[in-house]
Amino acid sequence: MKALILAGGKGTRLRPLTYTTAKQLIPVANKPIIFFVLEQIIQAGIFDLGVIISPETGDLIREALKKGSSWGAKITYIIQEEPLGLAHAVKTAQDYLKDDPFLMFLGDNLIQGGVKKAVEDFLKEDPQALIMLKEVVNPRAFGVAVLNGNNQVTRLIEKPKDPPSNLALVGIYLFSPVIHQAISRIKPSWRGELEITDAIQELLPMGYQVLARKVEGWWLDTGKKDDILEANRAVLDAYAKSEIKGEVDESSHLSGRVEIAEGTAIKNSVIRGPVVIDKECLVENCFIGPFTAIGEGSRLYNVGIEHAVVLEGCEIRDVPRIEDSLLGKNARVCRAENSRRALRLFLGDDAELVF
Ligand code: TTP
Repeated sequence: MKALILAGGKGTRLRPLTYTTAKQLIPVANKPIIFFVLEQIIQAGIFDLGVIISPETGDLIREALKKGSSWGAKITYIIQEEPLGLAHAVKTAQDYLKDDPFLMFLGDNLIQGGVKKAVEDFLKEDPQALIMLKEVVNPRAFGVAVLNGNNQVTRLIEKPKDPPSNLALVGIYLFSPVIHQAISRIKPSWRGELEITDAIQELLPMGYQVLARKVEGWWLDTGKKDDILEANRAVLDAYAKSEIKGEVDESSHLSGRVEIAEGTAIKNSVIRGPVVIDKECLVENCFIGPFTAIGEGSRLYNVGIEHAVVLEGCEIRDVPRIEDSLLGKNARVCRAENSRRALRLFLGDDAELVF
């Protein structure tokens, strides 16, 4: 069994951050999303991994995965010259995938509880495809599936105007090699992409069986800024620990689950978890509220911040209220004049905001 991780794409909805980084490398709870993806795949017992990368951000992905951790996995990188769709990515990886069954995992998606059970079910029940579904309130925005009573898929439609169900396709799929035949039979959609939904739908008239599993916990699809904040919230809620490795002075007060990494100093500040603060940060005279992740080497002075993702090397000074914000690497925010407005920011890497 192999796994194919899709870490190409353009990430246009996450500009300006994706001008300088790959969206799969944006951290939630201080860890790049693609690291969670790799961990979930390895937990499912799959160690032969193909990673689809784009010419623009491929080197960043390789670099991050190289130094990220000793995954204990064999990783093969596959360049997709243009993001012509999820099924096109599978086609591009055909030489790597050969005739093996595989788990396909979008590099910006995560589900609570991982994929071990789904992989086991796929191996045991041996369908031609197994897809993961999540009940959503806005099915028009997704690929949608219709099931019979035995969890078998009878129909799939991409972004239906009149949705026949509220079951959206999550970006995690298990395929037998017949998916390659189905992909060779489909045509690009109106948006010019080879859609994986169309390829799975194509398996049905070919007489193949497509099974579905519902995701009971959260499903995170981190395509836009607010999705990253929601992913950060869900992951901190689920995994934040109480662990102080840095220094917290006596005039500071910490409550809830707060992680402070080595070399970080907290001075005269209030922190209400779940919060994670990475290595070598300085936090002075601050209020850090729930669901905030601060990246390595950041410095905050006289700041109130909550529900925010601050990437590494940022400097924030004299800002009483920042919330629902995503700050790129080495961003600088400082208040030049007296202002008490609450800020909601989305800043690219190296951005400078003085107000
Ligand atoms: P999308 O979020 O659908 O596309 P995108 O990353 O290009 O983003 P945007 O719509 O904001 O421009 O992609 C889902 C995942 O699949 C993501 O991790 C990128 C990856 N992908 C590929 O690897 N190749 C592709 O051809 C496409 C469309 C996506």
